[in-house]
Amino acid sequence: MTTEPARPVPSSSAGASRRVQLDEESGTVMLRTDRGAYVLRVDRAAGTVRHVHWGASLPLADAVSLPLWSENDNSFAGRWDGTEEYPVDGGARFAAPALEVRFADGSSPVEPTVQDVVLLEGDHVAVLLRDCTRPLAWHLHYRVPPDGDVLERWTEFVHTGAPQDGDVLLVRYASAHWPLPQRADWRLSAVHGGWSAEGHLERSALPVGETTLGSRRGHTGHHANPWIALDPQDTGEEHGDVWVVALASSGSWRITAQRTAAGRTGVLAGEGHEGAELRLRPGGRHRTAVSLAVHSSHGFGGASRSFHRHLRAHVLPHPQELRPVLYNSWEATWFEVSEDNQIALARRAAAVGAELFVLDDGWFRGREDDRSGLGDWTPHPKRFPRGLRPLSDEVHRLGMAFGLWVEPEMVNADSDLYRAHPAWVLHLPDRTATELRHQMVLDFSRPEVTDWALGWLRRLVTENAVDFLKWDFNRSFTEAGTHAGGPDARRVHVDHARGLYRVLDQLRAEFPQLRIEACAGGGGRVDAGILSRTDQVWTSDNTDAVDRLRIQHGFSQLYPARVMSAWVTDSPNPLTGRTVPLRFRFHSAMAGVLGIGGDLTRWTDAELAEAAELVQVYKDIRAVVQRGEQFRLLPPGNGPLTAVQYVDEDRTVVLIWRPSTAYGPPEPPLRLRGLEAEARYRDEDTGREWSGATLMAFGIPLPDLPPGDCASALIRLRRGW
Ligand code: DGJ
Repeated sequence: MTTEPARPVPSSSAGASRRVQLDEESGTVMLRTDRGAYVLRVDRAAGTVRHVHWGASLPLADAVSLPLWSENDNSFAGRWDGTEEYPVDGGARFAAPALEVRFADGSSPVEPTVQDVVLLEGDHVAVLLRDCTRPLAWHLHYRVPPDGDVLERWTEFVHTGAPQDGDVLLVRYASAHWPLPQRADWRLSAVHGGWSAEGHLERSALPVGETTLGSRRGHTGHHANPWIALDPQDTGEEHGDVWVVALASSGSWRITAQRTAAGRTGVLAGEGHEGAELRLRPGGRHRTAVSLAVHSSHGFGGASRSFHRHLRAHVLPHPQELRPVLYNSWEATWFEVSEDNQIALARRAAAVGAELFVLDDGWFRGREDDRSGLGDWTPHPKRFPRGLRPLSDEVHRLGMAFGLWVEPEMVNADSDLYRAHPAWVLHLPDRTATELRHQMVLDFSRPEVTDWALGWLRRLVTENAVDFLKWDFNRSFTEAGTHAGGPDARRVHVDHARGLYRVLDQLRAEFPQLRIEACAGGGGRVDAGILSRTDQVWTSDNTDAVDRLRIQHGFSQLYPARVMSAWVTDSPNPLTGRTVPLRFRFHSAMAGVLGIGGDLTRWTDAELAEAAELVQVYKDIRAVVQRGEQFRLLPPGNGPLTAVQYVDEDRTVVLIWRPSTAYGPPEPPLRLRGLEAEARYRDEDTGREWSGATLMAFGIPLPDLPPGDCASALIRLRRGW
């Protein structure tokens, strides 16, 4: 994903790019993806950029002559509402704007004029706009990555004035407005939820008006995730049109689907929320987060696969690597960690085939429970009297990588750090500093705070040969004002996450071998922004293998299995009390990046042997799961069975779950997807063979599932036997 400003190239090369085409005369810009096109037209006379088309591929010659949506003709209507690429608050515009400002004299109307259209290196075009008299310019950036169907957009604001012009307050500063084509009706899909219940997918009709999802919590949130999908009400998992818009941001955010009474629909996506304003000083710049979007004519599944491919190829820092099988001690020892109990767990974890051992919370000074210690990042003298190095060495000797839990953005009041720096937390001097989970948020928009974090993280990683960090974040913002105060005091809703990014970027640059798992009390910070700096995410604190099917289904709408960390934990599950067979727990976790999080010292020899066998099976299929194309064959909750298929080159894996049983007619064969109709496929476990055509048209006979609740099966097929 683009993270650095692009360099202008000579205008003589304008129009030459394969994926960005420019027709100077009409002002038409065409962005081509593998299977589609996005077209806009720069109207210099009117000082605006109008939207023309987003969907299937078209010839440039047609795009140039396509008519624009006609202007409204009465004195009560917004002239261009819903048809502009970046609507501002100003002129005859009444829909929610992408840009709203407050100039130094308190006025707000913006009057745009087009400065230029610049083709930049890397299939990237920028439309440069500015206010006709006031000191503000904004540049609309569009980039088409070299492959795939995802488009990237962001906006850069520049205060072009001098000190006497005063500051410009950015009140709304969306990354992009994505206008949609005209359809009779629209349906909106998004995920909702909460802690331990992330990713619940819901679809509902899109009403006329503004429908906003967002986070005012300073982090991405468990309750929603920064993407929405819109379809014309008749799209299915594998057929029909869908448009998806996402935001690569880890702070507060807002995505608004806006449907006007005049029949125009578009999506605004940006950081911040109402009241979280940004002040631009003379000469100052602000570049928004990237908004990603895709159109698919292959249904929701097609859109998900496009995003998965894009995130794997262009966003993740180490896309070629396979994620290791992890062991994490949290649910085994909670806060009661010690060198002895961790070594005992590590030995068992290595014996069942884990490749990475992660020591979770509780290892540092003052951390008896969740009331104290955060901020004091040196080993707990009683629990680790010799420090962490002996454990790290033993883990390495056992052939595993060593990982450690940290929560750098937080502090407990009962810590030496807080006693020394009480002003480092988000606070307002005359307000109560609200504690949640007995902790407060350190203000990562302040360089002295991020410098401090980098200092101890460097030491910790170096001294203990740490290969992996689980980076946690266990509460939302309150009293979120910066120490600087003033009119943009709430910019911390945007700037904290940017401070976090700087720390992660620096740490990665200094320790290229270090891998990071993002976590925020489970899935509270899952987004394309954090994924451009981390290797995987902890999906949810809910490790119940049945609940996970729904959470993972929601997760997969945007994010690939390659980053979805999933553990096999003890039964009954500590959160839900549900008893689930070991095989089902493994099959549920094998749908992502397999980990184990149970108390292995209490597992029987038979359980450990079964676990070792299932870890081997996962290692055999993991390349298919982690690199393959994913097909959601049967979604959870729509019948007795749930099934997911992965296809990678010549191999196919299918996971089938039946969480609860009910008497009824036998289930029909399971129709597979994404195979070659002419090829032969052989079941690697039973030896049976079918053609791809049979598997897709008739289906594969379901394997015998054990009787009772929580039954599951895994099918491995290989092409070309
Ligand atoms: C929340 C995480 O999601 C858990 O996995 C665990 O690391 C705890 N925090 C530790 O406090």
